[in-house]
Amino acid sequence: MTTMLNISRLYAGYDASSVLFDVDLELQTGQVLSLLGRNGMGKSTLIRCVLGLISPRQGSIYIDGVCTNGWQPDRIARAGVSIVPEGRQCFPNLTVHEHLSAFSANRNPASTQLWNAERVYHMFPRLAERKNNLGNQLSGGEQQMLAIGRALVTNPKLLILDEATEGLAPKIRDEIWACLSRLKHEGQTVLVVDKYVNRLMQIADHHVVIEKGRCVWEGDSDALSKASAVWERYLGI
Ligand SMILES: Nc1ncnc2c1ncn2[C@@H]1O[C@H](COP(=O)(O)OP(=O)(O)OP(=O)(O)O)[C@@H](O)[C@H]1O
Ligand SMILES: [Mg+2]
Repeated sequence: MTTMLNISRLYAGYDASSVLFDVDLELQTGQVLSLLGRNGMGKSTLIRCVLGLISPRQGSIYIDGVCTNGWQPDRIARAGVSIVPEGRQCFPNLTVHEHLSAFSANRNPASTQLWNAERVYHMFPRLAERKNNLGNQLSGGEQQMLAIGRALVTNPKLLILDEATEGLAPKIRDEIWACLSRLKHEGQTVLVVDKYVNRLMQIADHHVVIEKGRCVWEGDSDALSKASAVWERYLGI
């Protein structure tokens, strides 16, 4: 088994504020890892470090065996990391189809079934219907499907979703979970943040809980289902 993402002794923050402290995390190739923790605990900050949007103060990040410390975000993206960002960030003035063609690439030479616009439309038929609509004419659910499709057509080695189903109607959430389940079965490596822990437990191989910028627990779904103290202390459930 190879390691797709290895984070070691990571410290990071913004200007005068320190957010992440001594974070270790490992994600094996072909697995799904969930990053759990309440609001403001540092999940998005950790993701920003992986994407190269902020520079760690200490520690290292290896992506598919290569240290990416000091790399700019575009280089990290070309190395095969794609993000479905918090708030989706679709381009208001590009159509659905333009998003999917503009981002089309193959950043994972090992992938056997390449993602393209047609495969995205097959997975999300709603997007096919909205093919010629602009980003700002889409509902929140359609925007999230587009953000996922836009990430997939780069054929990422590592797909990261920050708040996979936030603010979406239950029916759309189900579609997103079905999509993630399918990606997992196809061997896509995924790092996902979401607040629906029960759904994440059905999909993720491993869970990491962060509290005030520190990893406080990790384990598989079976262990998490039995760790009642973790739920009470760190997940607020
Ligand atoms: N751009 C920024 N500048 C300064 N502080 C920030 C910035 N972004 C986040 N923070 C602070 O860093 C801490 C961690 O925030 P982060 O967004 O990483 O948390 P999160 O776990 O993703 O939370 P949420 O569940 O609300 O998305 C918070 O205290 C937040 O206020
Ligand atoms: Mg966040």
